[in-house]
Amino acid sequence: MQKENHTEKRIGIFDSGVGGLTILKPMVSLMPNEKFYYFGDTKNVPYGTKSPKEIAKIGVEAYKKLRKLGIKMLVIGCNTTSIYGIKAIKEIADVPIIELIHPGVLAVKECGCKNILLLATEATINSGSIQSLLKKEIDDVKVEGIATQDMVITVENGNSNNEEGKKVVHRYLDMVTIRPDSVLLSCTHFPALSKFIADYFNNKGIDVNIISPAEKCAEIAKEKLKEIGKLTEFGNLSIEYFCSGDLEKFTKSGNILLDDDLIIKNVKKL
Ligand code: DGL
Repeated sequence: MQKENHTEKRIGIFDSGVGGLTILKPMVSLMPNEKFYYFGDTKNVPYGTKSPKEIAKIGVEAYKKLRKLGIKMLVIGCNTTSIYGIKAIKEIADVPIIELIHPGVLAVKECGCKNILLLATEATINSGSIQSLLKKEIDDVKVEGIATQDMVITVENGNSNNEEGKKVVHRYLDMVTIRPDSVLLSCTHFPALSKFIADYFNNKGIDVNIISPAEKCAEIAKEKLKEIGKLTEFGNLSIEYFCSGDLEKFTKSGNILLDDDLIIKNVKKL
């Protein structure tokens, strides 16, 4: 029997759209010899307003599409699916699955923050999962969770770096009642708006740590691949991009989030 060559198999990452690119970036920095598939499920964006059942179903479909292409690991580059889809995906998956909820909470814990402003999709906030985990893991923690769902479409429409992006951030942050020491971005679209978020608080004289699960998630993925003997030590980076909706829109909005070396040139339909 021929031995499987794991270095040819890829790490598959998916999200409802361009948000998961903020997870891809640290993955590439930490594992520059790997090959990746990135799938933006833009036909189904936004996930955050859908029912738990729908989110699970869409997550399973995304896994199946990537599995068919050939992956050695699945990274759920979406917090909403990390909550509502992980069980259903795990039931059928034959590769390791990496999620975002625990890495996010771990990152907050490590920074020693106690007054947390949690920004996420409607579905994520309504689940209460991250709020509960933060309270379980960190003594005397205060959490204010706000569903900032419109920020997803703002980023998806390519407005993360203009006045429109700033406006939507201000509209939501004007609702905050706590004085946060950190902002946990539990939606992968939101790091694209982090400058506006930091500036908003800085202008009020409030210094905040902006935290996302991305770096921790990449560390966990690398550790897992090492553990199972599938980390590629020598090889050339390769990323293939796919999306299920408008190819041009995905390319344009996605490239705002990516540095020149990772830009999307040839996205394919999946
Ligand atoms: N980026 C996703 C997340 O981290 C989903 C955003 C959406 O489609 O509503 O939750």
